[in-house]
Amino acid sequence: MPQTLTLTLPGETRPATEVLAGTGALAAAVERLRPWLEGRTVFLLSSRPVLDLHGGALEPLLAPARRRVDLEIPDGEAAKKVEVAAGLWQAMLEAGGKRDSRLVTLGGGSTGDLGGWVAASFLRGIAYAQVPSTLLAQVDASLGGKTGVDLPGGKNTVGAFHHPAFVIAETRFLTSLPREEIRAALAEVVKVALILDPPLLERVEEDLPRLLAGEPEALAPVVVAAAAAKIAVVEEDPKEGDARRLLNLGHTLGHALEAALGYRDLRHGDAVAHGLRFALRLARNRGLDPAVVERVEALLERFELPALPPLEPERLLRLMARDKKARESGLTWVLPAALGRGEMVEGVGEAEVHEELSAFLAESPYRA
Ligand code: GLY
Repeated sequence: MPQTLTLTLPGETRPATEVLAGTGALAAAVERLRPWLEGRTVFLLSSRPVLDLHGGALEPLLAPARRRVDLEIPDGEAAKKVEVAAGLWQAMLEAGGKRDSRLVTLGGGSTGDLGGWVAASFLRGIAYAQVPSTLLAQVDASLGGKTGVDLPGGKNTVGAFHHPAFVIAETRFLTSLPREEIRAALAEVVKVALILDPPLLERVEEDLPRLLAGEPEALAPVVVAAAAAKIAVVEEDPKEGDARRLLNLGHTLGHALEAALGYRDLRHGDAVAHGLRFALRLARNRGLDPAVVERVEALLERFELPALPPLEPERLLRLMARDKKARESGLTWVLPAALGRGEMVEGVGEAEVHEELSAFLAESPYRA
């Protein structure tokens, strides 16, 4: 049975986002979205490979709309460009899009990020829904309202906060995902489980083979729990002040690894998994129970993460300092403080990071 979750922003009484998640979420969404779509134009934003896989399944959902206009975008990160967004706004205008038109995104995180921003800006903002087709998008990218595109100098550098009215996380879509995609997304799940939801960590440990095999019934409770954990943080801190920065656990080194490898040879989630392993080292220096460190290390070992090529610690340090999440006041590390609790730690000296990073890169069991 699919579950319904809601994300309500501070001071509001009505939810900004309603999430339907689990096996059968798509079927359950048909009646829920009917009044939202009736009498309107719906723009469906997706890429050709995803449309070929799941486009047919969306037909009953979109049928109540007065008119459906398909907008095809490139697959993956290549879609997250200002020029792609500009082409979509033009196409929507020419197709007669209005302030009360609807937009639905079908795809992974990139499609959702682009589509969310297109919806945020078209005629100063139209309502949209996300139908995430990857595990990463279901547990993370579709939720939280951060939308946007990349500039040549940096990822996610232009965008806006715009929450989807609906997120429909159909776990049956996940059977078509390669095992590596699921593994990478599970790194984000481990991240939230470690600092926010220890029973979720236990579930991932117990069900890992079924999760990696893409079994929708095993994935459904994981998607629901991970989404609920993220929603709780976003509700507390919608605009990424402090609490929400906890979700950056593993991302400080993770982003630097992605940048060092040219955003090509390492999936985001795998980079986060390595970043999480490194954060555990810094956390152990600050008194995190070694049993927790070993437990998470043991779980991530079962992920069979891709090896890291030889990398200079100095280069990674420079990339970390440049990360857009760095503030002018310097780098703040998110570290697990205990099982179920994360903390923001300032003043981690560069010498310590350098020393740990050198050891991490040299000792890593995942060193190529
Ligand atoms: N859209 C992703 C987030 O807001 O975190």
